[in-house]
Amino acid sequence: MAVLITGGTGYIGSHTIVELLGAGQDIVAMDNFSNSKPAVLDRIREITGKKIRFYRVDMLDKPGMEAVFRENNIDSCIHFAALKAVGESVARPLLYYKNNVTGTINLLELIAEYGVKRFVFSSSATVYGKPPSVPIREDFPLSPVNPYGQTKLMIEQILADLSASDSGMSVVILRYFNPVGAHKSGRLGEDPRGIPSNLMPYITQVAGGKLPYLPVYGNDYNTHDGTGVRDYIHILDLAGAHLSALDYTERVRGVEYFNIGTGRGYSVFDIIRAYEKTTGKRIPYQIAPRRPGDVDECYADPGKANRLLGWRAKYDIEDMCRDADRWQSMYPQGFED
Ligand code: WQD
Repeated sequence: MAVLITGGTGYIGSHTIVELLGAGQDIVAMDNFSNSKPAVLDRIREITGKKIRFYRVDMLDKPGMEAVFRENNIDSCIHFAALKAVGESVARPLLYYKNNVTGTINLLELIAEYGVKRFVFSSSATVYGKPPSVPIREDFPLSPVNPYGQTKLMIEQILADLSASDSGMSVVILRYFNPVGAHKSGRLGEDPRGIPSNLMPYITQVAGGKLPYLPVYGNDYNTHDGTGVRDYIHILDLAGAHLSALDYTERVRGVEYFNIGTGRGYSVFDIIRAYEKTTGKRIPYQIAPRRPGDVDECYADPGKANRLLGWRAKYDIEDMCRDADRWQSMYPQGFED
């Protein structure tokens, strides 16, 4: 029996595959390489010594995606594949609704047709929008403020309705906070196209001399030092949460939601200081205007995942900075084309 990983050559998908292979799982992966590269498959094999069955297929190509199910004995799925750039989703909402929502419906129709009953979904803290307070619990209001977050919330609703229609389904929805860092080998990491929009890959490129300074988007937020506070979680902790979620789908039916974060918030200045202390590298910065849509503070109450999944983040902010820096230093151009 195999686990299907959609978006398997992406940042989170690839790190999760490495952990699943280490746990002895049999993996089938698919990706359309819209935001990743084939070289990731070589790295997974170098790290684990194992090959995986891989299909280059787009979720919007339902007949092509059906071959994945027809040719393999799939009994569970972890669904990562999605477009995830907030700014792009505002500029091109139909692209996001078509790719993320229609693509997921195509996938779920095949999941149902082939009797796959265990499903883990990659959701996001973006579904909370601007939270009324922090830390954020799973029962907080869901009010996404951009089309990307709306697609994640729509898919959560589709999964809840699907689960209600089939008592044999087990669905776990993981709402990620801010994934950062890289595999300890330095051979896998975050490889954004063009100028990074997220904080940590921007910092690693400043540290590596690819970018001259970090723009700090606003220092007048209602936080301890005026810069935005987020819950950064090591990618290896996030990958581990998926193994715990997959185990959970073996034990429990129905749909369950979990915030996956450390429960600690760090500001932009905190991250700059931690990075400089950990790596000895300077991160020059300049205060820039606020970025539209950014919230003051966003960090998780991970208590439910700690209790019900038996999962807890174990890496600290220094690990995140050290491992991100190692990846950037070893592969300053990211994965080769
Ligand atoms: C973090 C903080 C910025 C870059 C996004 C998505 C979210 C999720 C994770 C998918 C903020 C500040 C950033 C920079 C800066 N992705 N910043 N200079 O916005 O919390 O979340 O990524 O699920 O959906 O919204 O992460 O890393 O972009 O920003 O000052 O060059 O760093 O203002 O306070 P964010 P981020």
